[in-house]
Amino acid sequence: MKVLASAPGKVTLYGEHAVVYKKPAIVASIDKRIYVSCKTRDDNSVTIRALNLQVPGVILTYSQDGEIIFETDYGRVLSAVSYIKEAISLTSQFLGSFKGADLTIESSMPVGAGLGTSAAVSVATVAAYSKAVGYELELKDIARLAWSTEKNVQGIASPMDTSISTFGGIVYLTQENDDFNIEHLDIPSDMNVVVGYVKRQFKTKDMVELVKRYREKYPDLIDSVIDTIGNLVVEAKKALLKGDLKYAGELMNINHGLLDALGVSTKELNDLVYIVRAFGAYGSKLSGAGGGGSMIALVDKEKVSDIKTAISILNGTPLPTKIGCEGVRIEKAEE
Ligand code: PMV
Repeated sequence: MKVLASAPGKVTLYGEHAVVYKKPAIVASIDKRIYVSCKTRDDNSVTIRALNLQVPGVILTYSQDGEIIFETDYGRVLSAVSYIKEAISLTSQFLGSFKGADLTIESSMPVGAGLGTSAAVSVATVAAYSKAVGYELELKDIARLAWSTEKNVQGIASPMDTSISTFGGIVYLTQENDDFNIEHLDIPSDMNVVVGYVKRQFKTKDMVELVKRYREKYPDLIDSVIDTIGNLVVEAKKALLKGDLKYAGELMNINHGLLDALGVSTKELNDLVYIVRAFGAYGSKLSGAGGGGSMIALVDKEKVSDIKTAISILNGTPLPTKIGCEGVRIEKAEE
């Protein structure tokens, strides 16, 4: 059977990094997707073809522990290939059945720029592979398997990116014990965001470890920053539900300051975050793990084009983005 599945990338509106310490987060899917096609084979081999990951200038490095690393124009990123391999292994264990398959991956967004592409790759692979081998998984199972994939490949990961890529929409995510809960939020229809990205020097894993080390060094200080981010996310949910964009923007600014305090912002990201405010954004912050990568601005509709110009002025790449799009879906399935 041949199946094509797709899953969206994401922006974090509030709460990245603190979400690793089980604080709530608000996250939105975007209208850029990863496409994974999976065709079962008659033997036990798996082939993976990466057709278009929008990562020009690739250098491939193998490390002793089996990790495969690409160096690209967006910096050093873990290859999508590691996630596909792990997603297939976990899905076949879960289903209790393994079949060889030919997989092809394509992306409509830059991979490794902090838009949750590793999660989207994992989610789309679980969905495509399970369907191709004859199973209909529940969304919650897809989200859990993709989350385990990220944890196994990266060592540490919250359920945030894999949940939003599975369920789509705009989501308030909470965690209890080793599980997660999502609540879909109805956001103001006049809410517009602009995303910009710059070269990323570090992987998500590096940035999560950086915060971990900082927390070990200054436990009380860093824990109070993490707690404050958690409290801010609760406020942000109220602001969004009320449709108070000014308040929601101010909370983004505070969130950015706290992320900077955690040590995950960079001068390039800070420059973008501040210039868009000068150009009239309600608020702005880095989005994702930081260390370069993506930022997000909450803006009025009439300001969208000015904000894109502001991002370009500082050599960031603006990405026209709609938020709250559909989660994982099967695009095509044929015998
Ligand atoms: O930069 P991204 O898209 O990999 O986002 C990472 C988000 C973190 O909160 C920093 C890590 C996580 O697992 O939630």
